[in-house]
Amino acid sequence: MNDQSQIPNDLDSFWMPFTASRWFKSNPRLIGSADGVHYTTMDGHKLIDGTGGLWCCNAGHNHPRIVAAIQAQAATLDFAHSFNQGHAIAFQAASRLTELAHGFDHVFFTNSGSEAVDTALKIALAYHTANGEGERRLLVGRQKAYHGINFGGLSVGGIGLNKGQFGTLYPSTAHMRHTLLPENAFTRGQPQNGAYLAEDLAGIIETYGGHTIAAVIVEPVAGAGGVFPPPVGYLERLRELCDQHGILMILDEVITGFGRFGTAFASQHYGVTPDLFTVAKGLTNATVPMGGVFASSKVREAFLKGPDAMPDLFHGYTYSGHPLACAAALATLDVYRDEGIFENATAMDPVWEEMLHSVQDAPGVIDVRNAGILGAVQLQSGETVGAAGRAMFEKLWDLGLSVRPIGDSLAMSPPLTLSEGDIAQIGEVLNKGLRG
Ligand SMILES: Cc1ncc(COP(=O)(O)O)c(C=O)c1O
Repeated sequence: MNDQSQIPNDLDSFWMPFTASRWFKSNPRLIGSADGVHYTTMDGHKLIDGTGGLWCCNAGHNHPRIVAAIQAQAATLDFAHSFNQGHAIAFQAASRLTELAHGFDHVFFTNSGSEAVDTALKIALAYHTANGEGERRLLVGRQKAYHGINFGGLSVGGIGLNKGQFGTLYPSTAHMRHTLLPENAFTRGQPQNGAYLAEDLAGIIETYGGHTIAAVIVEPVAGAGGVFPPPVGYLERLRELCDQHGILMILDEVITGFGRFGTAFASQHYGVTPDLFTVAKGLTNATVPMGGVFASSKVREAFLKGPDAMPDLFHGYTYSGHPLACAAALATLDVYRDEGIFENATAMDPVWEEMLHSVQDAPGVIDVRNAGILGAVQLQSGETVGAAGRAMFEKLWDLGLSVRPIGDSLAMSPPLTLSEGDIAQIGEVLNKGLRG
């Protein structure tokens, strides 16, 4: 359906991320503009952005207040670094953020979720070093986890396809089983069954010794592995085991942060407090790349024991606290507050759940999962895993809805500004695609 005159060149020079480039080029889907919960392709096809960018445009696209803040900052202070010098807006952004993150008084800025995860893992290792427990080097992750694509995040991640090309990564890891259980199919929200899977951590502790483990990292709701919420009691049990054995608990909130559960962070929704947590994406509404790691005072204070003239942490990015990103973050937080975006997510949650589960008897649907304004519809796999998901992605795109195929699951994470009418429209297209 693409108008060939709209294609800018032979599409060969941009090496696209996580893309089957030959498949992409066979029918290039090129987005030209965005507004609110919609995208318009270069050839004029209008779509509901069912994935909120890539789980990140929580306040909808092209919000005028965020646009204006970035423009103004670019004309005032385009860039200054933060290595032993500073600029006001980074401190302002950090203070606004820590107000949202009850009990977390410190935030380290990065440029992406992947960098946030690697930073959090390094902080965990360095924390134990600072406390004289340098033998704690084991990092525990989980099957099907996605923690970005840098060395640390990939090491604790649990999606085999993402690791297979690269061989040995961080050498000291262990993985718990994932929590996607077939018997929980079609559960609305958190499944009742599955907390026992947290005992995998007890097993790892028994095998390696709790004193060798630096940190456990999980996503509160697994996202890029296929969207599945934690069984009731699961996160609580991980927390308990971490407390018993001096292990730091890291929650990766790169997808779940900034209102997707009606609270600022999913940890507040689930009532489980980590020692460190990572964010990105919705932090700036995805307008300027930015990530961050929140640290409790317990963690931060361990780094203040050395000489005054010594850096607290031998780690940082040229763009940590980039002024444009900080301006975008401050404006985004204003929008979230002033326009009741998190409150809208809470109000839409039951409507969203109802709509998603309306497809459960459609042909080929073997599971529907939802958590906050996140969801996935899982299709029966054919001979080639992923083929059904990709075919449905193409069909839904043509019908006017973008979803994210993950294997044969169709993941959705629309902007949190969505209305009941938008949800009804998503439901209409989804049903048409799946039943048509
Ligand atoms: C839970 C989680 N962590 C980390 C990342 C990596 O973020 P980025 O793509 O910004 O590096 C993602 C990306 O989707 C994610 O879902």
